[in-house]
Amino acid sequence: MAETVLDVGLDNIKGIGPKTKQKLIDGGIDSVLGLAVALPKEVEEVLGGKEESASKLIFSARQHLESQGLLGKEFILASEALQKRKEMKRIVTGSKSLDDLLLGGVETQSITEFFGDFGSGKTQICHTLCVTCQLPSDQGGLGGGAIYVDTEGTFRPERLVQIAEAKGLDANEILQKVVLCKVYNSNHLELVVRGLSRFIEKFNARLLIIDSIISLHRAEFIGRGTLANRQQRLNSLVHRLLRLAEIFNIAVVVTNQVQSKPDTFFGDPTRPAGGNVIAHACTYRIYLKKSGPQRIATIVDSPCHPYSDTRFQITENGVEDISAQK
Ligand code: GTP
Ligand code: MG
Repeated sequence: MAETVLDVGLDNIKGIGPKTKQKLIDGGIDSVLGLAVALPKEVEEVLGGKEESASKLIFSARQHLESQGLLGKEFILASEALQKRKEMKRIVTGSKSLDDLLLGGVETQSITEFFGDFGSGKTQICHTLCVTCQLPSDQGGLGGGAIYVDTEGTFRPERLVQIAEAKGLDANEILQKVVLCKVYNSNHLELVVRGLSRFIEKFNARLLIIDSIISLHRAEFIGRGTLANRQQRLNSLVHRLLRLAEIFNIAVVVTNQVQSKPDTFFGDPTRPAGGNVIAHACTYRIYLKKSGPQRIATIVDSPCHPYSDTRFQITENGVEDISAQK
């Protein structure tokens, strides 16, 4: 029997001969898991066949993993769901007040979205989490590494060094456990996310960062005519991320830009970009706002958090409580 879910080869699925297998591998689907989490449209594209038969293959892949006990069954008892929730862990952010807002930190099995204007601290939070996720669990970390998917070219290893040293950690060790992946266009991002399972296992990552989730799609799909296509592709992207979060029990953190909504007369006219597609897939959405040197974080959408906000600051030490100022 396969040791992990990733070792289950495509040959295990009835209906996949050597030719089909090669086509799937060429299309970036190289395991039964990859097939199980693919969308019918994608598989159809890869195989050049009918969507119907693609759906069948996907269904067989899921069934196979379930029969091996490697994939969560679709119908589970609430007691099992509770057990799964108990396996949920949290990563501290570096600021106690931000942690409190998040009821303890950034959760595994979920997508947490930080959105806000430029300079509001999204990228800095991501950098800090790359360090804190490596802390042992008694210090609020998960004792594992991070994968940082950088779409904006703003990842700075020097910042990791500063943040690690400020916490009294060995910066070299920290750098060894953060894997950077630079992506250049929306197709590339989609391809990278498709192949992530392998890297999550290989690097024992407990945190996956996409900074930012939407900038590439937003820049490339311009004009109303392309909106439906863009939203569909973003949709499959974020759902794939959610499945990775659940299957591997990792935390997924994405950043998002804001767009202004000129028809708002009351309140803040800014909204996270990406519309409903992003809104529905992200479990937690946190709005970041600059207020002088401080940052205000507001929890916008959450199944279990009360509406609240808090303040923290960003310094050379990363994310910190305001009282931590030397
Ligand atoms: P965009 O990606 O442009 O949308 O912005 P962002 O939300 O990712 O902003 P980012 O996280 O890059 O925040 C940048 C801000 O963090 C800067 O304007 C500084 O205020 C603050 N910052 C970054 N590094 C340092 C540092 O070393 N010391 C201090 N004091 N502040 C820092
Ligand atoms: Mg940024």
